[in-house]
Amino acid sequence: MPVIAVIGAQWGDEGKGKVIDLLAEKAKVVARFSGGDNAGHTVINHYGEFGLHLVPSGIFSAQAVCLIGNGVVINPSVLLGEIDLLNQRGVDTSRLFISDRAHLIMPYHILFDGLEEKARGNQAIGTTGKGIGPAFADKVARLGIRVGDLLDREVLLERLGHILDYKNTILTKVYGVSPLSLTEVYEQYCQFGERLAACIRDTSLIVEEALSRDELVLLEGAQGALLDPDFGTYPYTTSSSPLAGGGSLGIGVSPTRIGAILGVFKAYSTRVGGGPMPTELKDETGDLIRKVAHEYGTTTGRARRCGWFDAVAARFSTRINGFTGIAVTRLDILDNFPSLKICVGYKLDGKTIDYFPSSIAALSRCQPIYEELPGWLAPTTHIREYKKLPAKARQYLARLAELAGCTINLVCVGPEREQTIEVKPIL
Ligand code: GDP
Ligand code: IMO
Ligand code: MG
Repeated sequence: MPVIAVIGAQWGDEGKGKVIDLLAEKAKVVARFSGGDNAGHTVINHYGEFGLHLVPSGIFSAQAVCLIGNGVVINPSVLLGEIDLLNQRGVDTSRLFISDRAHLIMPYHILFDGLEEKARGNQAIGTTGKGIGPAFADKVARLGIRVGDLLDREVLLERLGHILDYKNTILTKVYGVSPLSLTEVYEQYCQFGERLAACIRDTSLIVEEALSRDELVLLEGAQGALLDPDFGTYPYTTSSSPLAGGGSLGIGVSPTRIGAILGVFKAYSTRVGGGPMPTELKDETGDLIRKVAHEYGTTTGRARRCGWFDAVAARFSTRINGFTGIAVTRLDILDNFPSLKICVGYKLDGKTIDYFPSSIAALSRCQPIYEELPGWLAPTTHIREYKKLPAKARQYLARLAELAGCTINLVCVGPEREQTIEVKPIL
């Protein structure tokens, strides 16, 4: 069996956690490959409701080995807290392994995230404040500390001593705040190392072994394509690639092994944090979507910005990811809207365009051109077969898929695992 990558297709929070939890019933490996605890993946199943930040959403399936790959930045304190919470609620985490190559989020990363955001003033990105950007910056600057370093205390002390000296100089001389104590950070991370040692592995090898046994492997994306540092609304992006291509790098599997790329779209748009969003509705309709859908962040609790489905952005996302199919979530949220809009183009400086501009200055000036479709004004949450959906709901989905340039595999009509309609098999 090949790999299925499940990828956020918009600005995150599309419902990846729910889709992974469902698909994991048949998977032998579920692997996170990017981001860190900036992600918040909601899963609702027979164990209850969970907001997972680092542990893959496949953890509830007894046969699935769950991996946190080399492309993830790990805050060990958050990870251990999440493991404890899952165990307390009866979820077995003995099948969870983390990559020795994954980078660690250190206390100074969280400090710098806050200090840098403050320094940006009205240009603030609206990060989650979890230290993600500074940790990935250190990774590429070759100033990172990796999970594997926790296994050798001498190496850890030497590396931390050297790096912390440098970080403390910036903390004190640039930001005028107190330095961090080497002994305290070192001792804390030694304790984390002791607790995590048993689950540290070469996770790419685990994926390879599963594939050689012809077992199903799922790659669990975090964030969404429009938050990608290359293709997203830079600099209002995250700091690692949420794209399908990132899946290959972030777990250590060849792109040739990825057999299906499932893009997860909400039936409308949301975004949390700063940066342009052409279809944002700063009116009663936007407030209504937020209220009906309870659009508040899983990680930070912030109100999400809401708007109509943006098919220009969707087509772009399909192209750069190469989706082989899509999942459309939260269709039920639109059940009571008498009419719906889909953005089919942008008006930019008097011209009509059909592409997603690379410059945020241009994107901020884009005015959406809408196509209006009738709402179905009927509940859908109980429906499990595509043909039983109201005709107008099918019409909306068909138009959305046509504009996004992709066929639909799944439609979700509620947050629970069962509230899903299979339209076409993914593989
Ligand atoms: P993720 O980050 O992509 O995993 O998404 P989040 O968990 O941050 O946000 C998605 C929200 O939508 C969660 O509250 C889910 O429980 C919920 N959800 C997922 N699919 C559906 C659906 O089809 N209908 C409804 N009403 N809620 C859904
Ligand atoms: P999931 O996996 C939605 C956003 C933040 C901010 C920007 C940069 O749940 O879909 P960061 O902390 O990464 O430096 O913040 O990215 N962001 C997300 N938005 N869902 C997420 O993850 C996100 N992860 C980061 O709000 O705008
Ligand atoms: Mg989320």
